[in-house]
Amino acid sequence: MAKSGTPFTLGVASGEPLPDGVVLWTRLAPDPLNAKRPGGMPDRTVSVRWQLAEDRGFARVVQSGTAAARPDWAHSVHVRVAGLRPGTEYFYRFSVDGHVSPVGRTKTAPAPDSADTVRFCFASCQRYEHGHFTALRHLADELPDVVLHLGDYIYEYGKPKQPRPGRYVRPLESEAECTTLAAYRRRYARYHMDPDLQAAHAAAPWITLPDDHEVRDNWAGTLPGNGGSPSAFLNRRAAAFRAYYEHLPLRVRPTGPDLRNFRLRPYGRAVDFMIVDARQHRSGPDMLGREQEEWLISKMKTSTARWKVLAQAVFFARRRFPNGASSADAWDGFPDSRARVLAEAPDGLVVLSGDVHNNWACDLRADWADPESAALGVEFVGTSVTSMPPDTDAKAILELNPHIGFFDGHRGYVSCTASMDDFSADYRVVDYVDRRGAPVSTVAAFRVEKNRLRRIDL
Ligand SMILES: [Fe+2]
Repeated sequence: MAKSGTPFTLGVASGEPLPDGVVLWTRLAPDPLNAKRPGGMPDRTVSVRWQLAEDRGFARVVQSGTAAARPDWAHSVHVRVAGLRPGTEYFYRFSVDGHVSPVGRTKTAPAPDSADTVRFCFASCQRYEHGHFTALRHLADELPDVVLHLGDYIYEYGKPKQPRPGRYVRPLESEAECTTLAAYRRRYARYHMDPDLQAAHAAAPWITLPDDHEVRDNWAGTLPGNGGSPSAFLNRRAAAFRAYYEHLPLRVRPTGPDLRNFRLRPYGRAVDFMIVDARQHRSGPDMLGREQEEWLISKMKTSTARWKVLAQAVFFARRRFPNGASSADAWDGFPDSRARVLAEAPDGLVVLSGDVHNNWACDLRADWADPESAALGVEFVGTSVTSMPPDTDAKAILELNPHIGFFDGHRGYVSCTASMDDFSADYRVVDYVDRRGAPVSTVAAFRVEKNRLRRIDL
């Protein structure tokens, strides 16, 4: 790309909505995949103009300013806008040196006393080389109030020596696995150049949570997952989290290898989103770490919202496999932690998860073995945007686990509506991702009734 080209090649984004504010994001990158200088930018701070308006044409600008894009943060821009009206749609854009960015739409969270219905989508697992982000294009078309991304925003892998069929549909920027800050930055640039991902960010504010592949496969706590030394791993985690921050509209920066992901995002009287990090604080048999677990339980106990939406990355309900195995990387590997959370389950508990690249829906029960035991809430497990699913004997798993009520093997996302009376989840799917343009359809829909799943006839 020419030196005089637009620096807004990676799109715009917003996130972390509060009733009075939102974070606006972009990153200057006239030559996004440049291997020598990140984004092809000069090694100096650049001042970027931003505007926020009530209308898409920017006739009614309500706030504007300048923000510093610094080379040590890859010329990313994070503007923490405050003083806005609750539950209100806004539009934003950036400009620098005569170049104007695309326009983004965002929306603040409802006021604490608002009884407004909340419409949100959640998604996870978007492996670039596995296909096109068509699902995110359809998600964008819904113009939700907010999008939750539950992890595997990028994959760190390089190109396999002999990719299996359908598993290298689009070329990455490099055939090597990401381990350094420079490599993670180029991987995020590769992803953010995708027009469907850009559309989804420009359509709504996002709340994001990393899982394992933002760093490396199956890492946990201070351990790299597949062998290797913890100290080298923490350096890698610091690089990975820094690049994650540089490419997403977060409120907080990482400090070295630490990034505080657990947080409450209240959405009026209808929803409290409780964002939980089920990876970074793992220690021995403990999934959440003491501080986070105490935080979560106190939030569940004190929340007065109709729906307590616990958003996290990995399968929560018990899931037995026909060969007797269970997933050690999910909550099945941490049954005592799960039992402590469920012991405090409030009325209106809805767990959201991803990670497994298939759609599932579960009842959460006081006794997994007893279908008549108390209903403690529900779990909606969303499929991947593109990542290929594992071989799954779904019929056998459904038979072995009577609390699991639904399986589907498409790619897609989940679209939810939470009102003072009702919670519904629509599983939105596409038939293919190896080429663009797949239409979207709803493969199943559920309501929550008395803390149980109820399937809706389509
Ligand atoms: Fe994944």
